Parts: sequence; C-alpha cells; structure tokens
Amino acid sequence: MHKIESNNVNFYYGENHALRDISLSMKENTVTALIGPSGCGKSTYLRLLNRMNDLIDGTKMTGSIVIDGTDIYGKNTNVDNLRKNVGMVFQKPNPFPKTIFENVAYGLRVNGITDKNEIEERVVTTIEQVALWDEVKDKLKKSAFELSGGQQQRLCIARALAIKPSILLMDEPTSALDPISTSKIEELIYELKNKYTIVIVTHNMQQAGRVSDTTAFFYMGELIEYDKTKTIFTKPAIKQTEDYITGRFG
Ligand SMILES: Nc1ncnc2c1ncn2[C@@H]1O[C@H](COP(=O)(O)OP(=O)(O)O)[C@@H](O)[C@H]1O
Ligand SMILES: [Mg+2]
Repeated sequence: MHKIESNNVNFYYGENHALRDISLSMKENTVTALIGPSGCGKSTYLRLLNRMNDLIDGTKMTGSIVIDGTDIYGKNTNVDNLRKNVGMVFQKPNPFPKTIFENVAYGLRVNGITDKNEIEERVVTTIEQVALWDEVKDKLKKSAFELSGGQQQRLCIARALAIKPSILLMDEPTSALDPISTSKIEELIYELKNKYTIVIVTHNMQQAGRVSDTTAFFYMGELIEYDKTKTIFTKPAIKQTEDYITGRFG
C-alpha cells in the first residue's frame, strides 16, 4: 500500500483549472521531488495533501487523496489531526516572533501537552534531530530572529517535526538560502527520510537529483512524467521532461 495516493485529482481556483487529472502515489519513507516551470501547479498539489487549499475561497477539488488508507477529503476526516500528521515547511523561513525554545514548544502546547519536563525533552530532541542543537543550545531563550536564514529554516523544520507528523511537505525550502545552508538542509532531508515520507517542491534540478527517490514533472497543471529520479534525469520517457531538465524551457 502507498503512504499517499492521489486519484484523478482536479483542482480549480474559480475558472482556473490548475490541476488536471493528477494520479500520483508515494511510498512510505521516500522523498518525492515535484519539479516543473513556475505556475504549473506544484504548490497547489502540495497544499492539497494537508488541505491547506481549503483556506482559499472559490476553489474546488475533484478526485481523491488517500493517506494511510483514509480519504482525507472524506466526511470523517478531522482536518486538525490531518495537519498534525502532515507537516509543512515553506520557502521563506517563518519562525514565530518568540524564543528559539518557544518556536518548537509552541506546537506541543497547542496540542495540549502541559508537562514541563515532557515539553523540554521534546524540544531538545527535536532540535537535535534537525542538527541545530550545537548552534543554539546556549541561546534557547533568544529570539528566533537572531538566527541566520538557514538556522531559522532548520528551526521551522523542528517546529513541524515536534508534533510528530509522519509526512513532511516542503515547498522550495532552500530557495531563499545560501549554498552552505542549502546543503545542510539537503543532508537533513536525507536523514529524515528514514522516519518520514517527504514531498519537496524544488526549482533546482541538482537538488531534486541529490535528495529524491522519485520525481514528478508537472507542466501546465498536468503530471507529464513520474518515475525514479535516476530515470527522470538520465532517460526520461517524454520529450517535454527532457526539454525541461536540460534547461530548454522553464
Ligand atoms: N491562491 C491562489 N489563488 C488563485 N490562483 C492561484 C492561487 N495559487 C496559485 N494559483 C494559480 O494556480 C496555478 C498553479 O500555481 P502554483 O500551484 O502556485 O504553481 P507552482 O507552485 O508550480 O509555481 C497558477 O495558474 C496560479 O496562478
Ligand atoms: Mg510554488
């Protein structure tokens, strides 16, 4: 069984038919890269996986998305629980205007954890998990804004992981970062896939090649090709995929 299964998904912003008949499934503990030119629907698709698009008026979806065997758009889905299980990290690091500690503790508190020791332990473990501990252990009470962009992004990943999701969505998580911070995040993604199923949107072909197991190429709202990353980058079956990955458009 797949961890995530999308079946014939269509999505509309008003009259704009942004996704066309997308069927795409992902296995547990893998990294899937979504690539394609700007405006082709990558973020829209990603946001469907934790029902973030529900927050946008005038939208409509057809088809189904099944996570862990349950239709997440079904009547019985609890959206809060879904979003706990499916964490998200954005392009621009967006820590809360709080201390480093509180950024990670926040989600725990919101989820009703009140035990001080438990909160402390989970904050520390999670900051360690994103390989940030050595850099922040002496300034947990300082504002998160004092961190560099790359550190802030790792903190945001920690914030997402603290509430124990099983899926992590990342929308161009390194596009605002310098090369060293980028490679730290890429190493982290590689580590994290032992425990999480990761879907990452990226504009960077090298990054897709380095971090992902499978790659989906979107073009104008359609899924053009989906295969092992190695195949997509060495022997794509479709001409449009080849043109895109070799930089002929996009
Ligand atoms: N919040 C929104 N409201 C209306 N249209 C949107 C919104 N977000 C995206 N779109 C439209 O949906 C299409 C796909 O956009 P998007 O998913 O952001 O593409 P990508 O992430 O691949 O750049 C585009 O035509 C875009 O203009
Ligand atoms: Mg996008």
